[in-house]
Amino acid sequence: MPQLVDMRNIIKVYPNGVVANRDVNFSVERGEIHALVGENGAGKSTLMKIVYGLEQPTSGSIIFNGRPVKLQSPHQAIDFGIGMVHQNFMLIPSFTIAQNIVLGHEPVKGRLLDTKAAIRITEQLAQEYGLDVDPTAKVEATPVGMRQRVEILKTLYRGADLLILDEPTAVLTPQETDDLFDAVRRLVAQGKTVIFITHKLIEVKEISDRVTVMRHGEVTGRVQTAEVSEEDIARMMVGRDVLFRIEKPRQQRGEVVVQVKGLSYVSPTGRPLLRDVSFQIHRGEILGIAGVEGNGQTQLAEVLSGLQPPTTGEATIGGQSVLGRGPRHVRQAGVAHIPEDRLTNGVALEADIADNLVVDRYYRSPFARRGAMSLRQVRRHAEQLMQKFDIRAAGAEALMGSLSGGNMQKVIIAREFSADPVLLIAAQPTRGVDIGASEFVRRQLVEERNKGKAVLLISADLAELLTLADRIAVLYKGEIVALFRSRPDLSEEELGLYMLGLKRQLPEQRE
Ligand SMILES: Nc1ncnc2c1ncn2[C@@H]1O[C@H](COP(=O)(O)OP(=O)(O)OP(=O)(O)O)[C@@H](O)[C@H]1O
Ligand SMILES: [Mg+2]
Repeated sequence: MPQLVDMRNIIKVYPNGVVANRDVNFSVERGEIHALVGENGAGKSTLMKIVYGLEQPTSGSIIFNGRPVKLQSPHQAIDFGIGMVHQNFMLIPSFTIAQNIVLGHEPVKGRLLDTKAAIRITEQLAQEYGLDVDPTAKVEATPVGMRQRVEILKTLYRGADLLILDEPTAVLTPQETDDLFDAVRRLVAQGKTVIFITHKLIEVKEISDRVTVMRHGEVTGRVQTAEVSEEDIARMMVGRDVLFRIEKPRQQRGEVVVQVKGLSYVSPTGRPLLRDVSFQIHRGEILGIAGVEGNGQTQLAEVLSGLQPPTTGEATIGGQSVLGRGPRHVRQAGVAHIPEDRLTNGVALEADIADNLVVDRYYRSPFARRGAMSLRQVRRHAEQLMQKFDIRAAGAEALMGSLSGGNMQKVIIAREFSADPVLLIAAQPTRGVDIGASEFVRRQLVEERNKGKAVLLISADLAELLTLADRIAVLYKGEIVALFRSRPDLSEEELGLYMLGLKRQLPEQRE
């Protein structure tokens, strides 16, 4: 098959001196689904931003459709039929979906946007590509799965033949991922070409024809997907065997330390999102929360971490009531929170790594002494955590905005793990982090539990829950419909029945 894109000897040095791509050769054939994988910071997004004209290579050339091209802006890339959906979405939240899709190429009536035409265009595109969206809904009020479909439709509206999807499934539920894969297969059947970045090797196996592996800015492998196993790909990525197993010693759980009673939360628009949720977590226990996304998990984490006041109900940590007095109070009571949406809720992009690692503790010893902040301590703290959590960046003073997506996540994870909490709330903690780092994060969660912490683990990854949690509660429509003690015969399928609302336990069946 003819090459659609052929990148030759690409070198990219960012202005701060970071070499993100070192002499990369990368090519994609027309009509294929090509997976691009590699550890956090390996240079995947950079390479794709170069094809999309968003970054300029320091040297090297790009052949597109047989002709050498210079892509100096996304505008030019779009003219060649190259579209990209970014790791962090770039839609305008206050606009409707239809407005976002036509943005930049609006149908007009006189000098105004022709809203009806925009809606019609959106509906036609949605139908043509089988990507269901609600044209009149505001983006800020739509779930991530739909936002992603909007991003894809937007690139298709602009005539993309090559679609670059940068970690599209990181924010999706398993069901949404299946839908996305169906859509991707349809796109390819219609003659499009897709480059797909992911950290989930099972997805690489499922969807791609070929895979290119990057490591430390270089290409370390290029294979036909059918000829390799997940383990092979993992080894190419990490340079060693990756253990998919986690050692978890028998639980020595202590007294109840977290008591949640009758928690309810009604959204500002009047939707009940949590209904009478009650549970306990013991010291030295991981309580897992399973559920199809959108069944109250996000609200549970937000209420317990003080970001939202509950409508009714109570939560105590070590006997102390924590709710309704704001996040700082909750934090001081011993709650750490790895938020699900780390890139909007967790980080200050214009601040450096060191500052992001102390935002919750700069006013305490050893960082503050007699009212002044010790920059040396802040820096030391950052360097230690960067080493422990393998945060790859130019240094502690690198701006968060210059980090790769996964490394930003690791900064937040490092901060929360090191807060020495009584209760650690971890929402989708391994999302967007590479396989080596996921393994590390999972081990840390078990270690916290072994040290006697209470952990609330919210995860869409059932295998992760079944491996890590001591008990698993299932949330369905904001309600706990089942509570299991983790045991070898508890299966993903069994949990699935409760997650879909097909089964529910009687109160006395809860374990
Ligand atoms: N705008 C920037 N300025 C300076 N350095 C940057 C910038 N963007 C990325 N980098 C650096 O370039 C390297 C590669 O980053 P890139 O975002 O391409 O990684 P990635 O493979 O996409 O990783 P992830 O899986 O974490 O998304 C990293 O060391 C990162 O810190
Ligand atoms: Mg990236």
